[in-house]
Amino acid sequence: MIRQETIDAIMGAVRIEEVVGDFVTLRRRGVNLVGLCPFHNEKTPSFNVNPARGIYKCFGCGKAGNAVGFVMEHEHLSYPEALRYLGRKYNVAVEEEVQTDEERQLRDRRDSLLHVHAFALDFFRKSLFETEEGKAIGLSYLKDREYREDILQKFELGYSPEAWDALTARAMNEGFSSDYLVESGLTIRKDERYYDRFRGRVIFPIHNLTGAPVAFAGRILSSDRSRPKYINSPETEIYHKSKVLYGLHHARQAIVSHDECLLVEGYTDVLSLHQAGIENVVASSGTALTVDQIRLIRRYTENITILYDGDEAGLKASFRGIDLILEQGLNVRLVLFPEGEDPDSFVRKNRVNVVRDFIRSRSENFIPFKARLLIRESEGDPVKKAGGIRDIVASVALVPDGIKRNLFIRECSQLMDIPEQTLMFEMNKMLRRRLQERRTEGGEDQVTEAPPPPPQALQTRTRDHQAVENDLVRILLNHGMLDFDMPIQDQGSTELVPVNTATYILHHLLSDGLEASDPACRTVIQVFRRHLEKEELPPIDLFLNHPDAGVARLAIDLITSPHNLSANWKRHRIHVPTEEQVIRELVINAVNAFKLAHVERELERLGTDLKGPLEAVHQLALMARQNELLRKKVEISRLLGRVISH
Ligand code: CTP
Ligand code: MN
Repeated sequence: MIRQETIDAIMGAVRIEEVVGDFVTLRRRGVNLVGLCPFHNEKTPSFNVNPARGIYKCFGCGKAGNAVGFVMEHEHLSYPEALRYLGRKYNVAVEEEVQTDEERQLRDRRDSLLHVHAFALDFFRKSLFETEEGKAIGLSYLKDREYREDILQKFELGYSPEAWDALTARAMNEGFSSDYLVESGLTIRKDERYYDRFRGRVIFPIHNLTGAPVAFAGRILSSDRSRPKYINSPETEIYHKSKVLYGLHHARQAIVSHDECLLVEGYTDVLSLHQAGIENVVASSGTALTVDQIRLIRRYTENITILYDGDEAGLKASFRGIDLILEQGLNVRLVLFPEGEDPDSFVRKNRVNVVRDFIRSRSENFIPFKARLLIRESEGDPVKKAGGIRDIVASVALVPDGIKRNLFIRECSQLMDIPEQTLMFEMNKMLRRRLQERRTEGGEDQVTEAPPPPPQALQTRTRDHQAVENDLVRILLNHGMLDFDMPIQDQGSTELVPVNTATYILHHLLSDGLEASDPACRTVIQVFRRHLEKEELPPIDLFLNHPDAGVARLAIDLITSPHNLSANWKRHRIHVPTEEQVIRELVINAVNAFKLAHVERELERLGTDLKGPLEAVHQLALMARQNELLRKKVEISRLLGRVISH
């Protein structure tokens, strides 16, 4: 928990244009700054930053928020992490609220482990670049493999000397406890003697998302087949193999901007691709992706391209793992490398453009790829073919998006020369079975059909109502402070009385007892109500930086929405003589639309109730109410029509 005073101090210090400016090149345009949106690909800038309001909004993709929101979205941080980031940037000390002893202990242990790793990293790097042994053995090996020094530095490669305990002795000398050295796996204890795990190997550090080393892999230098090519750090409190992807901290920016993540097997593949300028790449470290790793990638992109360098048998063995990726809703493409090549060797032999073209032109969507492979295998064997069909349909059935599923079914039907309906039938059977399984797992032994979706009409109606609520709140936020003249009939003469917009809106909602159904809209209206009771208007910042993220998002969205009054104005100016009149119409319209939405909603409810079994008295009461509402509906519609046709 970060204290409210600290949050306030940070919010007071941040300048949105500086925060965004660290990642996006901004140019001034009027009161705003504009740039290319970092959240979607675009060639003309539609990303707006409003320094006065402290908010950003992209008119291309709709992303919007304040400085904290930007950091969260862009750096994929949680709310407290984003605050800490901003605190560091603006020198606001972020003190944590007291922790329990247990929390503190865990934190201390993690800190100690991180510390040991940082020390070891430094030791390995110095050994590689600054010692005679490191240069003669480690560095010359890496240079033979044609790695440039800047790449070795970027990935912080190192070398662990041949001596039994070079690292361990140094670390203990520096005061590191043997417990943490052993726990990190850097040191192995045997019969009260300590020695280095990674002796005589080139070191590939494995980093977490913030770029801190949390584990190491050591590659052997000889081609001695009797010893493992790599040895790796064990799992620790700071390193869970299944949750880490090699190279991600250097790749994530490129993954977002290419909207694609390349997946390779090995550390050396990552290095080589980076060296060729292809940076949106991570390595699975020789194993199938775990769900955690897939979710990690999904934070940055939905598109994953697997660069595969093994044989067909190995590929088939990895199909199950690829299904896991489909199940997480990602799009999977596949590139097969020529026999005997891996990305590392391929990059060394070919120019960068060739590599890029190769990946682009050879990559194939996984599902049709698998369909073709299965067809090829089952040529002339109907039993095998049936199995293949079930296999491919099972993969398609995993795709969560129904539209994509149907497209895949169509494609597979063509590729496999099987009627679409047959595949569809097979798939629906699987989907039903899975649904049942999931229900039984959930402890429900009774299998029931899913509730039917609301009828189409009802769905659209709800969306309309949302638009009506948003419109009212938009007027409150943008023009709540304005007054307009209301004609009041007084003994035969008409008098113009100034009315405040916010007051008018709140008065009508309260006197009819109407509430917004959307929680964020409801909150905005309540805040207005509380302030108006004190005869004041709420400051807009209150909404823009509202602790409820939903409210903040709504406010930012509505305040920056392109169809605000100024646009309407320009449109209406031709017909309407004064500004006040435009606002008056706008407000009256919005309030009436809001009332109409409520009437319609209640009528719908009544209609359903009246269909059920009812006592006669009750039924009569409902019908009376129905009549009343219908009259109201006609009346409001007439009012709305009159104002609209003005
Ligand atoms: N791997 C491992 N332990 C091994 C062999 C492999 O952890 N004994 C993992 C490593 O993450 C390695 C990946 O599997 O990067 C791919 O293995 P491989 O292709 O054999 O290694 P490369 O990294 O490609 O190394 P090199 O280019 O030097 O052959
Ligand atoms: Mn390899």
